[in-house]
Amino acid sequence: MIRVKNLTKNYGELKAVDDISFEVKTGEIVGFLGPNAAGKTTTMRIITCFMPPTSGTVEVDDLNIFDNSLEIRGKIGYLPENAPLYWEMNVVEYLEFIMGLRGVGKDNFSQRKKDIIDLCGLGSVTHKDIGELSKGFRQRVGLAQAMIHNPEILILDEPTIGLDPNQIVEIRNLIKQLGREKTVILSTHILPEVEATCGRVLIIHEGKIVADGTPKELQSGFEGKERIYLELKKTVENIESKLKMLEQVEKVEKVATPSVETRGFYIESDKGVDLREKLFNYSVQNNWTILEMRREQASLEQIFRLLTRS
Ligand SMILES: Nc1ncnc2c1ncn2[C@@H]1O[C@H](COP(=O)(O)OP(=O)(O)OP(=O)(O)O)[C@@H](O)[C@H]1O
Ligand SMILES: [Mg+2]
Repeated sequence: MIRVKNLTKNYGELKAVDDISFEVKTGEIVGFLGPNAAGKTTTMRIITCFMPPTSGTVEVDDLNIFDNSLEIRGKIGYLPENAPLYWEMNVVEYLEFIMGLRGVGKDNFSQRKKDIIDLCGLGSVTHKDIGELSKGFRQRVGLAQAMIHNPEILILDEPTIGLDPNQIVEIRNLIKQLGREKTVILSTHILPEVEATCGRVLIIHEGKIVADGTPKELQSGFEGKERIYLELKKTVENIESKLKMLEQVEKVEKVATPSVETRGFYIESDKGVDLREKLFNYSVQNNWTILEMRREQASLEQIFRLLTRS
């Protein structure tokens, strides 16, 4: 369990993180979204004890970042934004170095090394110097160092940046798999990544949390309204005004359809009100033929843009 409480970080005049609070439960995979300069990396650096906050605190289980920073670091695997890799070491030397730092017992070195090399797809570059690796492979080495001591918590700052599409899918699957037993917070700008990987999304904008929920919750409660698209076969009567008379319907908007034989409408209701069954029964009563009915969902991209426009 991670508890972030009233966290604030000032850099001089700039409030990079502004009184944010949230909790992440064990086993959750949380996507940390926000535009450039929103405060994601700053928050992650504080959680991982790389930097103190100006005020507020972070607790990991019953430990806190001020009194127990060593223990907290031991529980966390951290992939920083620019993974500080040692360019003159080769991959195996580097992983052994990190295992030493992370207190992995020497007896476990070879098994752990083998597992992590397989997991991160590093088999073909084990004896290359890190400075010679392509960007994507360096990113994989960064992930390997974050996971090598098998930490309970993973904090990953843009884990798939620089990876090719195949590797992105592999790393996403890996994160999902890890998320069954670990707690993961990852930051990203790639919205489909969040939909594919995260059970929960936090959106941060100008240092404040502006949304917190499952991707589905954020998408369906968009602007606090539910919206249904209904397409009916044309009838002689005025469908729009009849729809407006239906209880709990807040707004009806006509939508152009490709055929003159059909009529399309967006029907809005308050958040949490599902009109589908009512609309079905009403259509049957009125002898209208339903050609299509669906809940409209905003894309995460629309929500992101709406919430983080300056
Ligand atoms: N060491 C620092 N000194 C001064 N200002 C900083 C420092 N680190 C970050 N900032 C500022 O704090 C704000 C938040 O930066 P942060 O790196 O946390 O954003 P981010 O959400 O990770 O952005 P990005 O998506 O670009 O990685 C920015 O305005 C940034 O310029
Ligand atoms: Mg960042």
